[in-house]
Amino acid sequence: MSVYLDHAATSFPKPPDVTAAVLRWYADYGVSPDRGDSDLTAVVRAVFERTRARVASLCGVPATRVAWTSGATESLHLFLLAVLKPGHRVLATACAHSSVARPLVTAREALGIELEVLPVDRDGRLDPADVVHALHRSPRDLLVLNHASNVTGVVQDVEPCLRAARDFGVTSLLDASQTMGTSDVAHLPADAIAASAHKALLGPPGLGFLATVAGLDLTPPKPGGSGSSHALDRHPLEWPTAFEAGTPNSPAVFGLDAALAWRAAHPRRLDPSPGRIALGELAQRLVDTRPSRRVLAADSLLRDRPDQLPILSFTDADWDPAELGILLDQAGFQVRSGFHCAPWIHRFLGTPTGTLRISPGPFVPAERILAIADALP
Ligand SMILES: Cc1ncc(COP(=O)(O)O)c(C=O)c1O
Repeated sequence: MSVYLDHAATSFPKPPDVTAAVLRWYADYGVSPDRGDSDLTAVVRAVFERTRARVASLCGVPATRVAWTSGATESLHLFLLAVLKPGHRVLATACAHSSVARPLVTAREALGIELEVLPVDRDGRLDPADVVHALHRSPRDLLVLNHASNVTGVVQDVEPCLRAARDFGVTSLLDASQTMGTSDVAHLPADAIAASAHKALLGPPGLGFLATVAGLDLTPPKPGGSGSSHALDRHPLEWPTAFEAGTPNSPAVFGLDAALAWRAAHPRRLDPSPGRIALGELAQRLVDTRPSRRVLAADSLLRDRPDQLPILSFTDADWDPAELGILLDQAGFQVRSGFHCAPWIHRFLGTPTGTLRISPGPFVPAERILAIADALP
């Protein structure tokens, strides 16, 4: 059995309770909330609302301001569709995932938005002062921040940036896909937060959410069936329905409900420190054995810093990351090579062929992480 080390893409394995809850929906319910007249819809609705309330507390917003989506990609896209208007001035950062970069570039072409992308350093770290200066320098309509890079694992110091956006009256959107379930997001003064259920929260794929602060008026970007207000030919403006059109992914909500309960019952299993320490040791071994290797943000791993996720990205001047990925796969390690759906950051990291990324989940023992060093050429 190979070792799964691509937790930054999606968490695996899931706690058994999660799979059981998904199967329970298929076996015992099969219906959506607010659709149909059977008592079962009320039970499903109760699970939706309990899960929504738990997600709301992770995001620091009222439960009514959490909308279910198909994933962070859809959450980000819907928010951008709802907010961006022709000529808007948008500030983003080089660590943006494609789910932010691509809609922004599309909006630049379709709506003529002005887009400024702020740089990061060679470890992928954003200087919050750059964000504050850029907000100060010229008026903006939207700030889009990436909370943690899925390439480097660096958790950015976004709080001063979000606070400055609020002071300048600039709407802010935080992509918390990598930090939801690993870092405290609830205290951050973001206007909107997007994340998926299937990463560190340990829920199923096909589910995500958009959380916004109360009072942010947004036109529903995806009108459609809503399970309520059936006679209207306009999509309801009330949250969360405003952002929820179409039949929801009920089995995934059941799975996320179970994942959140499991997480609450097993806080020690979720501690990122052991994974980070093992990766720090691996980072040391990697560079000690071959000087051609460069580990990104190595210092944060070596020091077990909480502003670093358990993600190790490295390059080897003598090998293409894709070649190393194949060799590790043959040796029984499932890692990820390439650009990791982050189109802008590699120019700043100096990684023109991408990186080899090792991202263990909380269930991988340290010795299996360290064994990677012996499997590499
Ligand atoms: C930082 C970041 N943002 C957004 C996404 C998109 O998430 P999803 O594929 O679940 O929609 C990812 C997924 O890798 C990510 O790492």
